[in-house]
Formats: sequence, C-alpha cells, structure tokens
Amino acid sequence: MCGIVGAIADRDVVPVLIEGLKRLEYRGYDSAGIAVLDGEQVRRVRRTGRVAEMESAAQSEGFRARLGIGHTRWATHGGVTEANAHPHVSFGELAVVHNGIIENHDEQREVLRAKGYAFESQTDTEVIAHLIHFHQSQGADLLAAVQKAVQELVGAYAIAVVSKREPGRLIAARMGCPLLVGLGEGENFIASDVSAILQATRQVIFLEEGDTAEITRESVRVFNAAGAAVERDVHMSDVSLASLELGPYRHFMQKEIHEQPRAIADTIEAVMDANAFNPLLFGADAENVLRDVEGVQILACGTSYYAGLTARYWIEAISGLPCSVEIASEYRYRKAVANPKHLIVTISQSGETLDTMEALKYAKSLGHDRTLSICNVPESAIPRASRLVYYTRAGAEIGVASTKAFTTQLVALFTLAATLAKLHGRLDVEQEGQYLDALRFLPGSVQHALNLEPQVTAWAERFAPKQHALFLGRGVHYPIALEGALKLKEISYIHAEAYPAGELKHGPLALVDAAMPVVVIAPNDALLEKVKSNMQEVRARGGELFVFTDEDSQFGPSEGVHVIRAPRHVGVLSPVVHAIPVQMLAYHAALARGTDVDKPRNLAKSVTVE
Ligand code: M6R
Repeated sequence: MCGIVGAIADRDVVPVLIEGLKRLEYRGYDSAGIAVLDGEQVRRVRRTGRVAEMESAAQSEGFRARLGIGHTRWATHGGVTEANAHPHVSFGELAVVHNGIIENHDEQREVLRAKGYAFESQTDTEVIAHLIHFHQSQGADLLAAVQKAVQELVGAYAIAVVSKREPGRLIAARMGCPLLVGLGEGENFIASDVSAILQATRQVIFLEEGDTAEITRESVRVFNAAGAAVERDVHMSDVSLASLELGPYRHFMQKEIHEQPRAIADTIEAVMDANAFNPLLFGADAENVLRDVEGVQILACGTSYYAGLTARYWIEAISGLPCSVEIASEYRYRKAVANPKHLIVTISQSGETLDTMEALKYAKSLGHDRTLSICNVPESAIPRASRLVYYTRAGAEIGVASTKAFTTQLVALFTLAATLAKLHGRLDVEQEGQYLDALRFLPGSVQHALNLEPQVTAWAERFAPKQHALFLGRGVHYPIALEGALKLKEISYIHAEAYPAGELKHGPLALVDAAMPVVVIAPNDALLEKVKSNMQEVRARGGELFVFTDEDSQFGPSEGVHVIRAPRHVGVLSPVVHAIPVQMLAYHAALARGTDVDKPRNLAKSVTVE
C-alpha cells in the first residue's frame, strides 16, 4: 500500500524520485519522503500530505544527489506524522524505505533497545533500519547486512536501503510486496511498479519472493532467499506513458469511466473475430484444467468480489457448474473443505492484494492445483502464482475507485462461463454465436450508457446533500447494486447500503422515509415485475426512487419515481451496462461534495497489507 522508488545514476536523481513518487501516489498518500546520499551525508526530507508538498521542501532545501530512495506512505503502524513518514534512518548513517508490515517488530524493537538503539517513530520500519545498522556495525557490508536483517523479520516487505558507508550502491529486498529493478544506460532504478520509472526505462526485472538485489550504476546482481546469485528474466514493459496521464479529463476516475468501451473491446479482442470460445484464452494448459472441473470457487476483495458475485449467476446458469464466491480475507482464515476438482478463480485488478494472494496460497495448501487468475497487471504476484491467467486489458487504473477494471473483469468472467459451458457440453452452436454477438455489441452499449451522463449528473446534485442511500437490485443485478453502493461511499462518503430488492421487507425497509434516496437497478429482465413490487413498498413509505432501467422495460417516471433509461436491454450482459450509471452517479455526487475523487480519504489503490 506504499510506493517505493530508488535511483542510482550519473545525474541528479531527485527529479526522478519526485516524478516516480507522483506516479506512485495512488498507492498511498498520507506522507512522502526521500533520502539521498549527498557527499558524506544522508539527507532526508519528509512531509505529511502529498508528494507536491515534500517536493517544495526538497527544492527549497536544495536537494541534489546521484543516489537516493523515496517513499509514499499509507499509514499502518503509527499515525500520519512526519516522524512516522519514510525514509527511516539509523544513526544518520543509513536510510530505509519499506512497503509491507513487519509482524515481529515489537520483539525486534525490544532486542534493539537492549543494544542501545533509540526509536523516533512508531513504525515497524524503523526496526529494519536499526537491524541493518546493527549488522553493519558487526562488520557486514551493506548487502550482507540487509540479507541478515531480512532473515530476522517476520511479515511482508519490499525495502530499499542506502548507506553513507557504501555510497556506490543501493540494496533492495522483497518478500510478499512487489518490487522491480529498472535497467538504464549507466543508471539503474528500483520501484514498486513500472509506472514510477517509465520516464527513464522500460526494461525491468521483477524480483521474486525472498530476493535481494545489489544495484550500482553499471550492474545489477540478484540473490535468492538462500543467498545464491541468480539470473532473473528481463522484461520490456508495454505500459504506455499516455495511459498514466490525465489528458483532457479532470480526474483519473472520470477518464477511466470513459475508457470502458475501449477497455472492454481490448479485453475481448481475441473473441471479437472468433466463431467459438477458445480455452486457449486462459492459457496453454486451460483445456485440460477446465474440462473436468466439477465446480468453481471464486476468491476476491472489494469490487473484484462483486465481479465474482455477478459471475456466479453466469457460471451456474450457463455452464451448470456449482459456483461459490467468498471474500478472500474470510476464506484464508477458515477451515475450508477443499474439493481439488474445483477451479479456484482469484480476481484482482492489481494482482497484489495481500488477502487475495494469501487466500490463493491457502487454497493451494488445501490441495487445489487448478487455479486461474483474472488480473489487470501483467507479471504481478497473483497471476504468477496461478496456473491459468486471463489478463484484462483495461490499461493502468489509477483512480482508487475501480471502474474499468470491474467491467473488464465482468467480460473476462462471462467468457469463462461460456468456455466452461462449451467444454462441459452445455453450449450449443447457436447459443455460442449469440453469446459471441452479445460480447461484440457490448462496447457500443456501454458507450450508449455513458451518453446518459447529463441525466445522471442531475441526479447526483440531489444526492450530494444526503447522508444515506439504499441501492436495490435482484438476481444478476444485485451485485451491481452492491458495487453502486461501494462506489458512492468510497468517494463521496455518503453512507450507502445495497440489498437484494426482495430482502427489503426483512429489515432495511425500516430505514425508508422521505429523506432516504433509493436507487434501483431494474432492467427489463425476468425479475422486473418482482422489482416493481419492491419499489411499491418503498413508495408506500414515502421513499424517493431513482430507477436505472432500459427502454424495453416501458417503465416511466411518476411522483417520487425518477427514471433513467439505457437504450435497450442487452440481455445476459446487462450487468455490465448497468455498472456505468452507478459509477457516474458516485463520481458526480463526489464532485458536487468536493471530495478528492481519485484519492479518497483513508484508502489506497493496492491493498498489500492485512
Ligand atoms: O486490486 P484488487 O482488485 O485485488 O483490489 C480489491 C479491492 O481492494 C478494490 O476493488 C477496492 O474495493 C476498490 N477500491 C473499489 O473501488
């Protein structure tokens, strides 16, 4: 949840660090800092708040250097204070930045205190700085000191370290948190993700679990957890700089909402011209793995979990296979009954969500070896730990609120449902053609939904003063109601809850009065008449209804009932289309309330801690 960047070069690296931190700010934005080696000195500047504030301080203090590390923080251990901001130093001699959580920091702190180390912060990271310093003081060089220190740590970390005793190298290590090395010409870099160093290089090495790396201007050496020198593949990143820029948009969330027709088209590119669902989409081994699975278990968090909930309706209805969906952080800590013939599907935009990764590891430990990851970030940890992969091609998603990742996950999951159905003999040629057509028409239908923005904006003005909202849906649209409520609370801070509409009378109806807006996802599907009855229940209690439907429903506005209609019902993929207006509603409500849309309070984009 924090961002790390580092550089060693024959030029001033401070602008590289600052630019990198700005690109990593989505990972955490409580505080930011850099430490550089300036001659014989470790110099450090830290500020709470945004990178821009730290940048001004670095400029006014004349920071320039050829070796440095930087960090943007999402607070875990210790409040949002300058003292808790990274980098952390030990005796002014070495500086450390850290992403992750050290679980045995209390024990280590006591041991280090007994050795004479004093602590200035409440963080677990300061323990790492002192531990490395201790090993250096016992005669180890910086690389060996880091290798010894990490062996004494329990937990997850990506770290980068500089020391004034060894001004020609930068040491990095990772376990459980992402870290990569960027290879330049006579200069090298480290970063939590490639976006931070894209202005300098596209050539990257992804460090693996337990790796340490020694980075100088001219060389990079990687060592595995046992300390043996290893060769790691060099990858060429295809992330475009343009995808990281705002362009004409005001916020990344706005940009990402509007990118959805393109993102969906890219994600299903392989099926656009195909006349059949091909298991190769999920990997070379997919046909073998998928053909005899007896069920599907989906594990994910947040919006990705809601994509999974939607997929359950499709998988059971289309393929006939039983499907269960569970929040990854719950699954990983319960005694689950494993059926190794079930396919484990993890869904994660970032591919580095700790709870999802740990749930996958737990499933594997229970004997599941049929694993599929649906992920938006190539080479991230979760797909690398999975046997099969479907990469959504949404492009970089920077707004903390997930939008295009969600709809591209949905199309990937629909493709999975149809592929499973085909492999299990439950998809005839005619139905297969209809599903392929539905996918091909989808980017156009999503564009039509985007065109509803002026009407949704008008609704958002009415939502802005509210403190609470209810979202209702039924069947496959219930997860879209959940997603709408999550979007609204996440960025506008309006408290919102979602229910299956039929559940209203079992409790939540007690909340309904004239002050409670009730958003209903009510397309023209088999449950529309049921949903209409549920809406009557709301109206009878004075509740105000905001209904998203489609032209085919023939559903019109009346007193206390506002209606926005998508052009036509798109059938089985209707949840994808109905995700668009709820995203826009949240975005415009947040705009009207003046919140920080892309960086909502207390949150971060990649949740790499528990
Ligand atoms: O990267 P992931 O898809 O694994 O992330 C899961 C959730 O943290 C994420 O979807 C979160 O709920 C979003 N901020 C929702 O907009």
